[in-house]
Amino acid sequence: MLVLAVVALIVPLAVSLRDRVDAEVRLEARTEAEAVASRTVSVIAPPNLARLKSLASTAAQAVSGRVVIVNKSGQIVADSDGAAALGSSFANRPEIAAALTGHVSQVKRYSTTLSAEILATAVPVYTGSSPGGAVRVTQSVNSVTAAIRRAWLGLALIGLLVIVLGLVAGAVIARRITRPIVRLDEAARRVADGDLTAAATVEGSTEQRALATSFNTMTERLNVLLAAQREFVADASHQLRTPLAGMRLRLEEARAQATDAEQSQELDAAIAEVDRLALIVNELLELSRAGEGKPPLAVTDCATALHGAFERWRAAGANVGCAVQLGSIEETQFACHHSDVDRILDAVLENALAYAPGTPVELSAAAGVIRVSDGGPGLGDGEGEALFERFHRGEAGRVGPPGTGLGLSIVRELARRWGGDVEIADSPAGGAVVTISLPQATILPNPYDSSNRIES
Ligand SMILES: Nc1ncnc2c1ncn2[C@@H]1O[C@H](COP(=O)(O)OP(=O)(O)O)[C@@H](O)[C@H]1O
Ligand SMILES: [Mg+2]
Repeated sequence: MLVLAVVALIVPLAVSLRDRVDAEVRLEARTEAEAVASRTVSVIAPPNLARLKSLASTAAQAVSGRVVIVNKSGQIVADSDGAAALGSSFANRPEIAAALTGHVSQVKRYSTTLSAEILATAVPVYTGSSPGGAVRVTQSVNSVTAAIRRAWLGLALIGLLVIVLGLVAGAVIARRITRPIVRLDEAARRVADGDLTAAATVEGSTEQRALATSFNTMTERLNVLLAAQREFVADASHQLRTPLAGMRLRLEEARAQATDAEQSQELDAAIAEVDRLALIVNELLELSRAGEGKPPLAVTDCATALHGAFERWRAAGANVGCAVQLGSIEETQFACHHSDVDRILDAVLENALAYAPGTPVELSAAAGVIRVSDGGPGLGDGEGEALFERFHRGEAGRVGPPGTGLGLSIVRELARRWGGDVEIADSPAGGAVVTISLPQATILPNPYDSSNRIES
């Protein structure tokens, strides 16, 4: 658009410039020729050759060309160049022929003598009523063309400069206009990634400011709604715990008093159901806590966490025939609280022991990622992401011991609140492998600082 505008302005300007230069050169040649002609009148018949020669030379210098003076029969009486012999006839030159009949003539033609395009201007010299001779001025057109070219080049450079400046100014203005939108987009992305504390900077035009304000109101409202929802789940879980505990006590009492075998069996099943319900209530409470915003920064030593989990699960593993082992462990620090890492490892090891009994279970860590692998049946067809859905139990879960289907949801929620994640897949060696990635701490913790807080 800018280029078009500049071209539309420059092209007519270039054309008129060429016409003007051309007209000026023509006018100058004619004025000079007429001036020489008027001074020639008194010296042409009889010819004062010295005077005529000096007149021709002075005029030639003024127009940077060649000036010849001929008598009434077209014979040279003076030539600024001295190229044509005195007395030789120029009557056959069209412009001279025209001048000798009393007409001012100006032609652009190709000169065979000079092998160049020339502008020839001839005017008559009136000594009486008819022309007594003529003065001709010739100039090379090349120099005129060169002058026009120089002017055009100047114009092109100005045009280019205008385009460059226009583009730079356009880019600066566009950036200023789009910056608030880009920032708002960044804030929206952060909210989409789960960071509900992200706020948009209120800046830019009135509409942009209004948009940013509405965006901030929306995230604040979302925050309030989510907090209310979490609070409700936490309250409900708390409220359910007491009656559940009471119910279990009563069932146990009834079980102790039961005499009938069938009755005892029914009561045992009821107690198991109540236990499952209590587990679900507990895990729901945990899930609602895990979903709370990012807690203060903390650091966990990877090796310490893995050794702790190993100690906690070694005996339980031996009970179900699982040899819990420590593989290679990279020295690394995670930017998250150790209680969450412990909770993640517990849920994953609990699954390994439940769904891969009698197989070795290995804990290892490399490149900032913890892996827990077992030698069990692995995942069912198409399982993987689905196992992280709440209450979803997979193939192994359905044939294995009772569960809630909430373990992996909790694990993922806990990892994500620190900016990490958890995946489960079939291990190439058979069995399942759980990959826990957590952000690495960049500064080592101060061992004397009991607050366990760092910058990550
Ligand atoms: N180590 C494992 N090997 C095979 N399947 C597993 C393993 N860990 C988890 N799973 C599958 O993932 C499902 C969901 O696990 P989880 O969320 O902990 O719930 P739950 O253990 O209560 O079933 C399990 O039911 C099981 O099918
Ligand atoms: Mg589980």
